[in-house]
Amino acid sequence: MKPVPSFITSARGALFDLDGVIVDTARFHYQAWRRLAAELGFEFTEAHNERLKGVSRMRSLEILLEIGGLQFDEARSVELATKKNAWYVELISKMGPEEILPGAADYLRQLRADGVKIALGSASKNAPMILDSLGITGLFDAIVDGNHVAKAKPDPEVFLLGATRLGLQAADCVVYEDAEAGIEAAHRAGMKAVGIGDPAILGAAEFVIPGLHALLKPAGLPF
Ligand code: BG6
Ligand code: MG
Repeated sequence: MKPVPSFITSARGALFDLDGVIVDTARFHYQAWRRLAAELGFEFTEAHNERLKGVSRMRSLEILLEIGGLQFDEARSVELATKKNAWYVELISKMGPEEILPGAADYLRQLRADGVKIALGSASKNAPMILDSLGITGLFDAIVDGNHVAKAKPDPEVFLLGATRLGLQAADCVVYEDAEAGIEAAHRAGMKAVGIGDPAILGAAEFVIPGLHALLKPAGLPF
């Protein structure tokens, strides 16, 4: 394992994306979008789904409709996104703490023990419900989600608001992200980013790891 860079160990604030960093909801988004595409008469593949990671619900629908070669007015688009969300919520309502990605909850606890402030910075409007079903709402000092921001990632709004809610400067915060759009949002906010996933996709991040488990300290030892 590469040594943990000092921008991570010296940060006073940590801003976490949710989907793909703390919990793997991408497969449930995929099932719900695929069902919508099937109803509209076209196939939606896992490769297509990659394009929706980190992207807001309405923008995801736009991309999906582009793939299907379809166009609808605003009212019909909202209707379709609402339908997809109802299916998605039905799928995620069955989630419990066992769905937390390896090491994620322990890493949040480790940061808290080290005095680091923690905020959520997610595009999802379902984030509060997801954190509650995972039983980890209490590990966050601030929650910023799709209900609080007007501009979606790669716009930096979600992370800038997160830093403000923690009472910290952007430069004191580190972002943990699994999507390219999220890494770009972090950089535009003036923050360094830890990429969670494939270095070939997340090469723009200052440090890339396969999951938050890679940052857990061996019991009782400092880095
Ligand atoms: C992001 C996901 O976290 O949230 C995207 O990566 C999703 O795939 C977006 O579209 C919005 O989620 P929701 O729950 O508001 O539809
Ligand atoms: Mg994500």
